[in-house]
Amino acid sequence: MTAIPAIREIPARGRNTYDPAVVRADFPILSRTVYNKPLRFLDNGASAQKPQSVLDALQNSYASEYANVHRGAHFLSGAATEAYEGVREKAAGLLNAPGPDNIVFTKNVTESINLVACSWADAHLSAGDEIVITEMEHHANIVPWQLLRDRKGIVLKIAPVEDDGSFVLERFAALLTEGTKLVSVTHVSNVLGTAVPVAEVTRLAKDAGACVLIDGAQGVVHQPVDVQAIGCDFYAFTGHKLYGPTGVGILYGRTDRLAEMPPWQGGGDMIDTVSFEKTVYADPPMRFEAGTPPFVQAIGLGAAIDYVQALGMDAIGAHEHALCAHAMETLRDVPGVRPVGEAPDKAAIVSFVVDGLHSLDVGAILDRQGVAVRVGHHCAQPLMARMGIESTVRASMALYNTTEEIDALAAGIRHAQKLLG
Ligand code: ALA
Repeated sequence: MTAIPAIREIPARGRNTYDPAVVRADFPILSRTVYNKPLRFLDNGASAQKPQSVLDALQNSYASEYANVHRGAHFLSGAATEAYEGVREKAAGLLNAPGPDNIVFTKNVTESINLVACSWADAHLSAGDEIVITEMEHHANIVPWQLLRDRKGIVLKIAPVEDDGSFVLERFAALLTEGTKLVSVTHVSNVLGTAVPVAEVTRLAKDAGACVLIDGAQGVVHQPVDVQAIGCDFYAFTGHKLYGPTGVGILYGRTDRLAEMPPWQGGGDMIDTVSFEKTVYADPPMRFEAGTPPFVQAIGLGAAIDYVQALGMDAIGAHEHALCAHAMETLRDVPGVRPVGEAPDKAAIVSFVVDGLHSLDVGAILDRQGVAVRVGHHCAQPLMARMGIESTVRASMALYNTTEEIDALAAGIRHAQKLLG
Protein backbone atom coordinates (compact mmCIF):
# COMPACT_ATOMS: atom_id res chain seq x y z
CA MET A 1 0.00 0.00 0.00
CA THR A 2 1.29 3.45 -0.83
CA ALA A 3 1.96 5.54 2.23
CA ILE A 4 -0.22 8.63 2.56
CA PRO A 5 1.97 11.73 2.69
CA ALA A 6 1.63 13.70 5.89
CA ILE A 7 0.19 17.16 5.44
CA ARG A 8 3.06 19.57 5.83
CA GLU A 9 3.18 22.08 8.58
CA ILE A 10 3.34 25.60 7.23
CA PRO A 11 5.85 27.62 9.21
CA ALA A 12 4.57 31.04 10.23
CA ARG A 13 6.52 33.74 8.46
CA GLY A 14 6.01 37.41 9.06
CA ARG A 15 6.60 40.59 7.09
CA ASN A 16 10.21 40.92 8.25
CA THR A 17 11.14 37.50 6.97
CA TYR A 18 9.19 37.50 3.70
CA ASP A 19 11.47 35.86 1.21
CA PRO A 20 10.02 35.00 -2.23
CA ALA A 21 12.80 32.45 -2.78
CA VAL A 22 11.63 30.51 0.28
CA VAL A 23 7.98 30.90 -0.71
CA ARG A 24 8.69 29.66 -4.25
CA ALA A 25 10.02 26.39 -2.91
CA ASP A 26 6.49 25.63 -1.67
CA PHE A 27 5.14 25.63 -5.25
CA PRO A 28 6.38 22.58 -7.19
CA ILE A 29 5.32 23.88 -10.61
CA LEU A 30 7.52 26.96 -10.32
CA SER A 31 10.67 24.89 -10.72
CA ARG A 32 9.69 23.58 -14.13
CA THR A 33 10.85 24.99 -17.43
CA VAL A 34 8.91 25.77 -20.59
CA TYR A 35 10.70 25.75 -23.95
CA ASN A 36 13.89 25.16 -21.94
CA LYS A 37 13.41 28.49 -20.19
CA PRO A 38 12.63 28.98 -16.51
CA LEU A 39 8.89 29.46 -16.04
CA ARG A 40 8.00 33.05 -15.15
CA PHE A 41 4.36 32.77 -14.22
CA LEU A 42 2.67 36.16 -14.44
CA ASP A 43 -0.88 35.00 -15.18
CA ASN A 44 -2.09 34.74 -11.62
CA GLY A 45 -5.15 36.92 -12.18
CA ALA A 46 -6.53 34.09 -14.32
CA SER A 47 -5.55 31.37 -11.84
CA ALA A 48 -2.75 31.06 -9.31
CA GLN A 49 -0.41 28.09 -8.76
CA LYS A 50 -0.81 25.74 -5.80
CA PRO A 51 1.52 25.20 -2.84
CA GLN A 52 2.46 21.65 -1.82
CA SER A 53 0.25 21.92 1.26
CA VAL A 54 -2.83 22.34 -0.97
CA LEU A 55 -1.77 19.42 -3.17
CA ASP A 56 -1.23 17.34 -0.02
CA ALA A 57 -4.65 18.25 1.34
CA LEU A 58 -6.32 17.15 -1.91
CA GLN A 59 -4.33 13.92 -1.97
CA ASN A 60 -5.08 13.25 1.67
CA SER A 61 -8.77 13.88 1.21
CA TYR A 62 -9.09 11.50 -1.73
CA ALA A 63 -6.64 8.92 -0.42
CA SER A 64 -7.57 8.65 3.23
CA GLU A 65 -10.63 10.69 4.19
CA TYR A 66 -12.95 10.38 1.23
CA ALA A 67 -16.70 9.88 1.58
CA ASN A 68 -19.68 12.08 0.80
CA VAL A 69 -20.44 14.79 3.35
CA HIS A 70 -23.56 15.27 5.51
CA ARG A 71 -24.89 11.84 4.53
CA GLY A 72 -23.17 8.82 5.95
CA ALA A 73 -23.48 7.31 9.41
CA HIS A 74 -19.87 6.20 9.19
CA PHE A 75 -16.39 7.32 10.13
CA LEU A 76 -15.21 8.58 6.74
CA SER A 77 -18.31 10.65 6.08
CA GLY A 78 -17.91 12.19 9.52
CA ALA A 79 -14.25 12.99 8.87
CA ALA A 80 -14.96 14.52 5.45
CA THR A 81 -17.90 16.52 6.86
CA GLU A 82 -15.78 17.85 9.70
CA ALA A 83 -13.00 18.88 7.32
CA TYR A 84 -15.47 20.49 4.88
CA GLU A 85 -17.41 22.37 7.55
CA GLY A 86 -14.13 23.48 9.09
CA VAL A 87 -13.38 25.40 5.92
CA ARG A 88 -16.41 27.61 6.54
CA GLU A 89 -14.68 28.67 9.77
CA LYS A 90 -11.43 29.32 7.89
CA ALA A 91 -13.17 31.37 5.19
CA ALA A 92 -15.05 33.31 7.86
CA GLY A 93 -11.70 33.97 9.57
CA LEU A 94 -10.09 35.14 6.32
CA LEU A 95 -12.89 37.67 5.71
CA ASN A 96 -13.55 38.47 9.37
CA ALA A 97 -17.14 37.34 8.86
CA PRO A 98 -19.15 36.85 12.06
CA GLY A 99 -19.20 33.08 11.68
CA PRO A 100 -19.34 30.00 9.47
CA ASP A 101 -23.08 30.40 8.80
CA ASN A 102 -22.24 33.50 6.78
CA ILE A 103 -20.23 31.41 4.32
CA VAL A 104 -21.91 29.75 1.34
CA PHE A 105 -19.88 27.40 -0.83
CA THR A 106 -20.30 27.95 -4.55
CA LYS A 107 -18.39 26.96 -7.67
CA ASN A 108 -16.66 30.31 -8.21
CA VAL A 109 -17.32 34.06 -8.15
CA THR A 110 -19.51 33.82 -11.22
CA GLU A 111 -21.79 31.39 -9.42
CA SER A 112 -21.74 33.49 -6.24
CA ILE A 113 -22.95 36.55 -8.17
CA ASN A 114 -25.54 34.53 -10.06
CA LEU A 115 -26.78 33.19 -6.73
CA VAL A 116 -27.39 36.72 -5.44
CA ALA A 117 -28.98 37.75 -8.75
CA CYS A 118 -31.30 34.73 -8.92
CA SER A 119 -32.17 34.68 -5.23
CA TRP A 120 -31.88 37.97 -3.36
CA ALA A 121 -32.21 40.36 -6.30
CA ASP A 122 -34.92 38.36 -8.03
CA ALA A 123 -37.01 38.33 -4.84
CA HIS A 124 -36.43 41.94 -3.80
CA LEU A 125 -36.14 44.01 -6.97
CA SER A 126 -38.90 44.98 -9.36
CA ALA A 127 -39.33 46.97 -12.57
CA GLY A 128 -37.68 50.38 -12.39
CA ASP A 129 -35.36 49.55 -9.49
CA GLU A 130 -31.74 50.46 -10.13
CA ILE A 131 -28.51 48.50 -9.89
CA VAL A 132 -25.18 50.36 -10.07
CA ILE A 133 -22.06 48.63 -11.36
CA THR A 134 -18.87 50.15 -12.81
CA GLU A 135 -17.27 50.38 -16.22
CA MET A 136 -14.47 48.09 -15.10
CA GLU A 137 -16.53 45.03 -14.18
CA HIS A 138 -15.68 41.54 -15.35
CA HIS A 139 -18.46 40.00 -17.46
CA ALA A 140 -19.39 37.95 -14.37
CA ASN A 141 -20.57 41.15 -12.70
CA ILE A 142 -22.38 42.46 -15.77
CA VAL A 143 -24.24 39.62 -17.47
CA PRO A 144 -26.17 38.30 -14.41
CA TRP A 145 -27.62 41.81 -13.95
CA GLN A 146 -28.47 42.08 -17.63
CA LEU A 147 -30.33 38.77 -17.36
CA LEU A 148 -32.22 40.20 -14.38
CA ARG A 149 -32.89 43.43 -16.29
CA ASP A 150 -34.34 41.47 -19.17
CA ARG A 151 -36.47 39.37 -16.80
CA LYS A 152 -37.72 42.10 -14.51
CA GLY A 153 -37.20 45.49 -16.14
CA ILE A 154 -34.68 46.80 -13.64
CA VAL A 155 -32.34 49.61 -14.68
CA LEU A 156 -28.58 49.10 -14.89
CA LYS A 157 -26.43 52.18 -14.24
CA ILE A 158 -22.72 52.29 -14.91
CA ALA A 159 -20.24 54.24 -12.77
CA PRO A 160 -17.44 55.64 -14.91
CA VAL A 161 -13.74 54.98 -14.71
CA GLU A 162 -11.20 57.73 -15.51
CA ASP A 163 -8.72 57.61 -18.41
CA ASP A 164 -5.92 56.55 -16.05
CA GLY A 165 -8.10 53.81 -14.55
CA SER A 166 -8.97 55.70 -11.37
CA PHE A 167 -12.33 55.35 -9.72
CA VAL A 168 -13.74 58.69 -8.59
CA LEU A 169 -16.10 58.32 -5.67
CA GLU A 170 -18.05 61.52 -6.44
CA ARG A 171 -18.88 60.33 -9.95
CA PHE A 172 -20.14 57.04 -8.51
CA ALA A 173 -22.13 58.85 -5.80
CA ALA A 174 -23.85 60.99 -8.43
CA LEU A 175 -25.56 57.88 -9.80
CA LEU A 176 -27.20 56.91 -6.50
CA THR A 177 -30.90 57.71 -6.18
CA GLU A 178 -33.84 56.58 -4.08
CA GLY A 179 -34.33 53.89 -6.69
CA THR A 180 -30.89 52.34 -6.16
CA LYS A 181 -31.48 48.93 -4.65
CA LEU A 182 -28.13 47.25 -5.29
CA VAL A 183 -24.54 48.34 -5.84
CA SER A 184 -22.34 45.57 -7.22
CA VAL A 185 -18.70 46.51 -7.73
CA THR A 186 -15.36 44.87 -8.13
CA HIS A 187 -12.86 45.18 -5.28
CA VAL A 188 -9.92 45.22 -7.69
CA SER A 189 -10.19 45.51 -11.48
CA ASN A 190 -8.88 42.36 -13.17
CA VAL A 191 -7.54 44.50 -16.04
CA LEU A 192 -6.48 47.83 -14.56
CA GLY A 193 -5.52 46.70 -11.08
CA THR A 194 -7.51 49.66 -9.73
CA ALA A 195 -8.44 49.13 -6.09
CA VAL A 196 -11.96 50.43 -5.55
CA PRO A 197 -12.49 52.12 -2.14
CA VAL A 198 -15.14 49.57 -1.23
CA ALA A 199 -15.74 50.80 2.33
CA GLU A 200 -16.56 54.31 1.06
CA VAL A 201 -18.62 52.87 -1.80
CA THR A 202 -20.55 50.80 0.73
CA ARG A 203 -21.10 53.75 3.05
CA LEU A 204 -22.51 55.86 0.19
CA ALA A 205 -24.63 52.97 -1.07
CA LYS A 206 -25.99 52.35 2.42
CA ASP A 207 -26.84 56.04 2.82
CA ALA A 208 -28.92 55.61 -0.34
CA GLY A 209 -30.57 52.50 1.13
CA ALA A 210 -28.92 50.03 -1.27
CA CYS A 211 -27.58 46.54 -0.72
CA VAL A 212 -23.90 46.04 -1.62
CA LEU A 213 -22.12 43.13 -3.29
CA ILE A 214 -18.33 43.16 -3.72
CA ASP A 215 -16.71 40.98 -6.40
CA GLY A 216 -13.55 40.05 -4.53
CA ALA A 217 -12.06 37.70 -7.13
CA GLN A 218 -8.97 39.90 -7.48
CA GLY A 219 -9.39 41.63 -4.13
CA VAL A 220 -9.01 38.91 -1.54
CA VAL A 221 -5.74 37.68 -3.06
CA HIS A 222 -3.84 40.96 -2.75
CA GLN A 223 -4.79 42.38 0.66
CA PRO A 224 -6.49 41.64 3.97
CA VAL A 225 -10.29 41.83 3.71
CA ASP A 226 -12.64 42.62 6.58
CA VAL A 227 -16.25 42.36 5.45
CA GLN A 228 -17.55 43.80 8.71
CA ALA A 229 -15.29 46.85 8.42
CA ILE A 230 -16.35 47.28 4.77
CA GLY A 231 -19.98 46.87 5.79
CA CYS A 232 -21.01 45.09 2.59
CA ASP A 233 -23.91 42.66 2.38
CA PHE A 234 -22.17 40.18 0.09
CA TYR A 235 -18.54 39.45 -0.76
CA ALA A 236 -17.58 36.84 -3.35
CA PHE A 237 -14.25 35.17 -4.01
CA THR A 238 -12.94 32.06 -5.71
CA GLY A 239 -10.56 29.36 -4.52
CA HIS A 240 -8.37 28.93 -7.57
CA LYS A 241 -7.10 32.51 -7.60
CA LEU A 242 -6.21 32.20 -3.90
CA TYR A 243 -3.80 29.28 -4.47
CA GLY A 244 -6.59 26.73 -3.94
CA PRO A 245 -8.24 24.29 -6.33
CA THR A 246 -10.66 25.09 -9.12
CA GLY A 247 -14.35 24.36 -8.62
CA VAL A 248 -14.94 26.04 -5.28
CA GLY A 249 -15.90 29.61 -4.49
CA ILE A 250 -17.28 31.51 -1.53
CA LEU A 251 -20.19 33.83 -1.07
CA TYR A 252 -20.13 35.74 2.21
CA GLY A 253 -23.58 37.01 3.11
CA ARG A 254 -24.71 39.13 6.03
CA THR A 255 -26.93 37.06 8.32
CA ASP A 256 -30.09 39.10 7.71
CA ARG A 257 -29.59 39.07 3.94
CA LEU A 258 -29.09 35.32 3.77
CA ALA A 259 -32.16 34.82 5.96
CA GLU A 260 -34.37 36.77 3.55
CA MET A 261 -33.20 34.85 0.48
CA PRO A 262 -35.20 32.06 -1.15
CA PRO A 263 -33.39 29.00 -2.50
CA TRP A 264 -32.12 29.28 -6.04
CA GLN A 265 -31.50 25.60 -6.79
CA GLY A 266 -33.36 22.62 -5.38
CA GLY A 267 -32.12 19.18 -4.47
CA GLY A 268 -30.57 17.16 -1.69
CA ASP A 269 -28.77 18.85 1.22
CA MET A 270 -30.70 22.15 1.02
CA ILE A 271 -33.85 20.88 2.76
CA ASP A 272 -35.17 20.08 6.22
CA THR A 273 -38.11 17.94 5.12
CA VAL A 274 -39.62 16.99 1.78
CA SER A 275 -43.02 15.56 0.98
CA PHE A 276 -44.86 15.63 -2.31
CA GLU A 277 -47.04 18.40 -0.91
CA LYS A 278 -44.41 20.64 0.62
CA THR A 279 -40.70 21.12 1.14
CA VAL A 280 -39.24 22.94 4.13
CA TYR A 281 -35.89 24.43 3.25
CA ALA A 282 -32.78 24.31 5.39
CA ASP A 283 -31.49 27.46 7.02
CA PRO A 284 -28.60 29.34 5.39
CA PRO A 285 -25.96 28.53 4.35
CA MET A 286 -27.19 25.01 3.48
CA ARG A 287 -30.31 26.44 1.81
CA PHE A 288 -28.07 27.55 -1.06
CA GLU A 289 -26.03 24.37 -1.46
CA ALA A 290 -28.13 21.83 -3.37
CA GLY A 291 -26.54 18.49 -4.20
CA THR A 292 -23.14 17.03 -3.35
CA PRO A 293 -20.89 20.06 -2.81
CA PRO A 294 -17.30 20.37 -4.05
CA PHE A 295 -16.07 19.26 -0.65
CA VAL A 296 -12.62 18.01 -1.68
CA GLN A 297 -11.99 21.30 -3.45
CA ALA A 298 -13.25 23.13 -0.36
CA ILE A 299 -10.80 21.17 1.80
CA GLY A 300 -8.04 22.21 -0.62
CA LEU A 301 -9.21 25.80 -0.28
CA GLY A 302 -8.96 25.44 3.49
CA ALA A 303 -5.29 24.51 3.08
CA ALA A 304 -4.80 27.51 0.80
CA ILE A 305 -6.35 29.83 3.38
CA ASP A 306 -4.04 28.36 6.03
CA TYR A 307 -1.13 28.97 3.69
CA VAL A 308 -1.81 32.65 2.98
CA GLN A 309 -2.66 33.32 6.60
CA ALA A 310 0.64 31.77 7.72
CA LEU A 311 2.44 34.14 5.37
CA GLY A 312 0.19 37.01 6.41
CA MET A 313 -2.04 38.91 3.97
CA ASP A 314 -0.32 42.14 5.02
CA ALA A 315 3.08 40.71 4.14
CA ILE A 316 1.79 39.34 0.84
CA GLY A 317 0.22 42.72 0.04
CA ALA A 318 3.45 44.57 0.84
CA HIS A 319 5.51 42.21 -1.34
CA GLU A 320 3.10 42.53 -4.26
CA HIS A 321 2.89 46.30 -3.86
CA ALA A 322 6.66 46.52 -4.26
CA LEU A 323 6.50 44.22 -7.30
CA CYS A 324 3.78 46.35 -8.87
CA ALA A 325 5.79 49.54 -8.36
CA HIS A 326 8.82 47.84 -9.92
CA ALA A 327 6.72 46.61 -12.86
CA MET A 328 5.23 50.04 -13.57
CA GLU A 329 8.63 51.71 -13.39
CA THR A 330 10.30 49.05 -15.54
CA LEU A 331 7.59 49.04 -18.20
CA ARG A 332 7.54 52.84 -18.43
CA ASP A 333 11.23 52.59 -19.38
CA VAL A 334 10.46 50.42 -22.41
CA PRO A 335 9.82 52.74 -25.38
CA GLY A 336 6.47 52.03 -27.06
CA VAL A 337 4.89 50.41 -24.01
CA ARG A 338 1.75 52.14 -22.76
CA PRO A 339 0.34 51.03 -19.41
CA VAL A 340 -3.44 50.70 -19.23
CA GLY A 341 -4.43 51.44 -15.66
CA GLU A 342 -2.28 53.83 -13.64
CA ALA A 343 -4.56 54.56 -10.71
CA PRO A 344 -2.62 55.64 -7.62
CA ASP A 345 -4.31 52.91 -5.57
CA LYS A 346 -3.51 49.81 -7.55
CA ALA A 347 -3.02 46.09 -6.87
CA ALA A 348 -0.34 44.03 -8.61
CA ILE A 349 -2.09 43.73 -11.97
CA VAL A 350 -0.36 45.51 -14.84
CA SER A 351 -1.96 45.78 -18.27
CA PHE A 352 -0.29 47.41 -21.23
CA VAL A 353 -0.28 47.75 -24.99
CA VAL A 354 2.80 47.89 -27.18
CA ASP A 355 2.69 50.45 -29.99
CA GLY A 356 2.50 48.83 -33.39
CA LEU A 357 2.20 45.28 -32.06
CA HIS A 358 -0.83 43.11 -31.45
CA SER A 359 -1.18 41.87 -27.88
CA LEU A 360 -1.55 38.29 -29.12
CA ASP A 361 1.81 38.47 -30.89
CA VAL A 362 3.49 39.98 -27.84
CA GLY A 363 1.99 37.23 -25.67
CA ALA A 364 3.20 34.51 -28.04
CA ILE A 365 6.76 35.82 -28.02
CA LEU A 366 6.77 36.26 -24.26
CA ASP A 367 5.55 32.67 -23.96
CA ARG A 368 8.60 31.46 -25.92
CA GLN A 369 10.76 33.27 -23.35
CA GLY A 370 9.02 31.34 -20.57
CA VAL A 371 6.96 34.38 -19.52
CA ALA A 372 3.29 33.47 -19.03
CA VAL A 373 0.88 36.39 -19.34
CA ARG A 374 -2.75 36.75 -20.38
CA VAL A 375 -3.65 38.64 -23.54
CA GLY A 376 -7.05 39.69 -24.87
CA HIS A 377 -10.07 41.47 -23.45
CA HIS A 378 -9.86 39.70 -20.08
CA CYS A 379 -13.64 39.14 -19.94
CA ALA A 380 -14.08 42.91 -19.71
CA GLN A 381 -15.16 43.97 -23.20
CA PRO A 382 -17.07 47.09 -22.04
CA LEU A 383 -13.90 48.30 -20.30
CA MET A 384 -11.88 47.70 -23.46
CA ALA A 385 -14.43 49.77 -25.39
CA ARG A 386 -14.21 52.52 -22.75
CA MET A 387 -10.43 52.59 -23.05
CA GLY A 388 -10.61 52.57 -26.86
CA ILE A 389 -8.63 49.37 -27.23
CA GLU A 390 -9.38 45.79 -28.18
CA SER A 391 -6.97 43.97 -25.95
CA THR A 392 -4.05 44.30 -23.58
CA VAL A 393 -1.15 42.20 -22.40
CA ARG A 394 -1.64 41.59 -18.68
CA ALA A 395 0.94 40.63 -16.09
CA SER A 396 -0.79 39.73 -12.84
CA MET A 397 1.47 39.04 -9.89
CA ALA A 398 1.29 36.69 -6.97
CA LEU A 399 2.98 36.13 -3.63
CA TYR A 400 5.79 34.10 -5.26
CA ASN A 401 6.78 36.47 -8.06
CA THR A 402 10.10 38.29 -8.10
CA THR A 403 11.55 41.47 -9.58
CA GLU A 404 13.75 39.24 -11.74
CA GLU A 405 10.58 37.90 -13.39
CA ILE A 406 9.39 41.45 -14.10
CA ASP A 407 12.77 42.20 -15.65
CA ALA A 408 12.37 39.08 -17.82
CA LEU A 409 8.96 40.41 -18.89
CA ALA A 410 10.53 43.73 -19.94
CA ALA A 411 13.35 41.92 -21.78
CA GLY A 412 10.76 39.75 -23.53
CA ILE A 413 8.84 42.84 -24.71
CA ARG A 414 12.04 44.37 -26.11
CA HIS A 415 12.72 41.07 -27.85
CA ALA A 416 9.18 41.12 -29.37
CA GLN A 417 9.73 44.67 -30.57
CA LYS A 418 12.99 43.64 -32.25
CA LEU A 419 11.42 40.60 -33.90
CA LEU A 420 8.17 42.21 -35.01
CA GLY A 421 8.93 45.93 -35.17
N1 ALA B 1 -11.25 36.38 -14.37
C1 ALA B 1 -10.02 35.79 -14.70
C2 ALA B 1 -9.06 36.77 -15.32
O1 ALA B 1 -9.17 37.94 -15.13
C3 ALA B 1 -10.18 34.56 -15.50
O2 ALA B 1 -8.16 36.35 -16.02
